[in-house]
Amino acid sequence: MSYQHLTTRRDGAVEYLTLNRPQVRNAFNDQVIAELSRWTAATGEAAGRHDVRAAVIAGAGKVFCAGADATWMAKMAAYSEAENLSDATAMARMYMAIDELPVPVIARVQGAALGGGAGLAAVADIVVADDQAVFGFTEVKLGIVPATISPFVTAKIGISATRELFLTGGRFSAARAREIGLVHAVVAADELDAAVAAFVREILGAAPEAVAAAKALIRSVTGHPAAEVLADTAAAIASRRVSAEGQEGLRAFLEKRKPSWNAS
Ligand code: COA
Repeated sequence: MSYQHLTTRRDGAVEYLTLNRPQVRNAFNDQVIAELSRWTAATGEAAGRHDVRAAVIAGAGKVFCAGADATWMAKMAAYSEAENLSDATAMARMYMAIDELPVPVIARVQGAALGGGAGLAAVADIVVADDQAVFGFTEVKLGIVPATISPFVTAKIGISATRELFLTGGRFSAARAREIGLVHAVVAADELDAAVAAFVREILGAAPEAVAAAKALIRSVTGHPAAEVLADTAAAIASRRVSAEGQEGLRAFLEKRKPSWNAS
């Protein structure tokens, strides 16, 4: 599959995606959104076949992602409300599709993740950032709102931090991002790849269907009282216990051997 603004690479069962518009700090416009949506669909299909078991999203150059392309958004003033709505819907769908990919998504953040770039971090399952990286939901500084990313950000960092950060548009450090749960590991820039690789190794040691089920489970229980989801959570573990993968994992543990999915 060929892209103009993305580069992709498959290494074993790991899909690597790099946003590749470094001249605008990987800001995304309608074309990038369309390409990202295509990539997400293809990666989801490969995940369904277990050809892909983890995805890593990175940005080319000195910055991970500067969010939505200001030039593109400014241009949209000349378009109709219906065109703006359809454009914004495509962006919202792109975030949702990445959020729902049935494999763990790791974001490798260097330099900055701002606006929609911080939103990309929010839809990733695991975020590794360099210790100098700067984050921010800066939209209000530009007179717009962090709308399409808001469900994912509030779910990730909670209402209190979201209230402060959405309403001020202030920039914050990687350390703060870790404190509020947007980032999971903060390392020196030259250790980013090793930190990503360590997470990838952990994921490849886990059963692919169980990982997909765990990811779906998180989404289905979030925001619901335990009583409401009790039947579903019981059904989820019951079906995993009797699954081929569950049986293999439990037996491998008892027999003190590696399970079939653990290549290393
Ligand atoms: N949209 C369009 N262009 C952008 C952009 C964006 N979101 N972010 C950066 N660029 C462009 C700059 O206009 C500049 O273009 P130029 O070379 O034609 O002047 C180029 O990318 C490099 O930006 P610069 O600010 O010089 O790079 P930097 O490495 O010093 O700083 C950032 C990088 C990301 C910290 C800084 O560009 C920034 O703060 N960008 C705004 C991010 C933002 O608020 N995004 C929210 C959008 S909703």
